[in-house]
Amino acid sequence: MLVGLNPPDDAAIWRMDESRALVVTADFFTPVVDDAYDYGAISAANSLSDVYAMGGEPFLALNLAALPPNLPAEIGGEILRGGAEKAREAGVVIVGGHTIQDKEPKFGLVVIGQVHPQKIITKGGLQAGDHLILSKPLGMGVTTTAIKRGQAREAEMAEAIRWMKTLNRKAGALAREFSLRGGTDITGFGLLGHGLEMAQASGLKLEIAYAQLPFLAGAPRLARAWCFPGGAADNRLFVQAQVAFHGQSEEQQMLLFDPQTSGGLLLGVPESRLEAFLERARATALPLWDIGRAVPGSGIAVF
Ligand code: CO
Ligand code: CO
Ligand code: CO
Repeated sequence: MLVGLNPPDDAAIWRMDESRALVVTADFFTPVVDDAYDYGAISAANSLSDVYAMGGEPFLALNLAALPPNLPAEIGGEILRGGAEKAREAGVVIVGGHTIQDKEPKFGLVVIGQVHPQKIITKGGLQAGDHLILSKPLGMGVTTTAIKRGQAREAEMAEAIRWMKTLNRKAGALAREFSLRGGTDITGFGLLGHGLEMAQASGLKLEIAYAQLPFLAGAPRLARAWCFPGGAADNRLFVQAQVAFHGQSEEQQMLLFDPQTSGGLLLGVPESRLEAFLERARATALPLWDIGRAVPGSGIAVF
């Protein structure tokens, strides 16, 4: 076993031989949007993301589904179809799975990928001086909560769904191409929760430039309306002692604790390779944001 539970990472890694290791992960959650197809696609993209976050290439998956007995069959079918089409887009074959009955729907995937044992990306792989590169905007928790409360506008909803359905495949491929070593994906613990995991595992401090952070268009408005999910307050409680803010308002701070669903990759890119990295990203039409740096020290400072 090359990566396991101690310390936990985005997926487990099991060495097969000199040049091949298996990446294994499972994820599932309750609906984040009303449309069954979109929910299935988002959950699949989220499950696949943990393999990309480890530097791996996913190739096999299993469905994990819990569906209410009174749910119309076509709704369950749409959830699975959304997951299957997203997996196909990723070049992943769903070879089976298991469905049970449950009051509240749940859906996700077991995903198996492969990685070269010397090319694993971990939370502890950041080096001092690395730039922190994020591959999706923040604000998914506040937006999906606003959708549930009926406070999100059509365009805000559509933008959030589009990003949550986006695979981290291209960002993962670029990370492999540049042999990056430090990275994770931003999900339930939010930017600062997952950022702190990286800071601690790498023995470094993260400096984040608030002005460089990308947000969904509706996020600032919905933050002012305090549409944060309960998880945002939990994340703040858990992480805030290790975060130093510099002039950000309470809503701005909360947006950094906001839990993300199918969020972007956060990658450490050495300064010497940054220009080439961003150049390749532009050439493949992959949007990326340079949001800060890893420096000696501990914790996170937001400027
Ligand atoms: Co993850
Ligand atoms: Co996960
Ligand atoms: Co079974």
